[in-house]
Amino acid sequence: PRTIYLTRHGESEQNLEGRIGGDSDLSARGRQYGNALSQFIISQNIPHLRVWTSWLKRTIQTVSGIPAPQERWKALNEIDAGICEEMTYEEIASKYPDDFAARDQNKFTYRYPRGESYEDLVARLEPVIMELERQGNVLVVSHQAVIRCLLAYFTDKSSELDLTNGNWDSNGFVDDDDNSRSLDELPYLEVPLHTVIKLTPVAYGCRMELLKLPI
Ligand code: F6P
Repeated sequence: PRTIYLTRHGESEQNLEGRIGGDSDLSARGRQYGNALSQFIISQNIPHLRVWTSWLKRTIQTVSGIPAPQERWKALNEIDAGICEEMTYEEIASKYPDDFAARDQNKFTYRYPRGESYEDLVARLEPVIMELERQGNVLVVSHQAVIRCLLAYFTDKSSELDLTNGNWDSNGFVDDDDNSRSLDELPYLEVPLHTVIKLTPVAYGCRMELLKLPI
């Protein structure tokens, strides 16, 4: 059985400042995560591993030491926060209070002006997911909102980021009664920095492990 490894990029300069979006470089700590991730991946001896990143510098820098074929996907870029790009949440709350409140009301469907919603992100990720379904072992290095969507797709117990069993959901994101709850929860899934999420299909489900790398 193949394994999918999901992780956010290492801490970026803008993570340190609490600014969303942008295309900043890794911080010193983020570079340490890149090294730890390389060591971890090498130690796992994963056959035919492929590495997928977004087009943003922080993901590409995170995998620079990993000796495996790499692919860049624009569709793996972080949610586009439109007019709020590179602002802190405090700045958004004071400059665009109505938007800030609206997002809090319905985080899944809220679309940043001139940007995207989580719902948009799910649509944008469809081709990535379809290709991921056909692949063997893959390490996906992307961003918080994107990883939340991928997790929600590949597990149906996505609210519990713990050793748990979920099902491979062949219906994808169909918004029926069964998973409308998980769509509400999707934008709040915890995807900490500097942690590898390991997804292993077993029988009819998928085992999820969270591996916090020491840095
Ligand atoms: O803060 C890091 C970040 O990846 C931002 O670039 C992005 O806008 C945000 O997280 C997504 O998280 P949330 O939807 O909770 O604001």
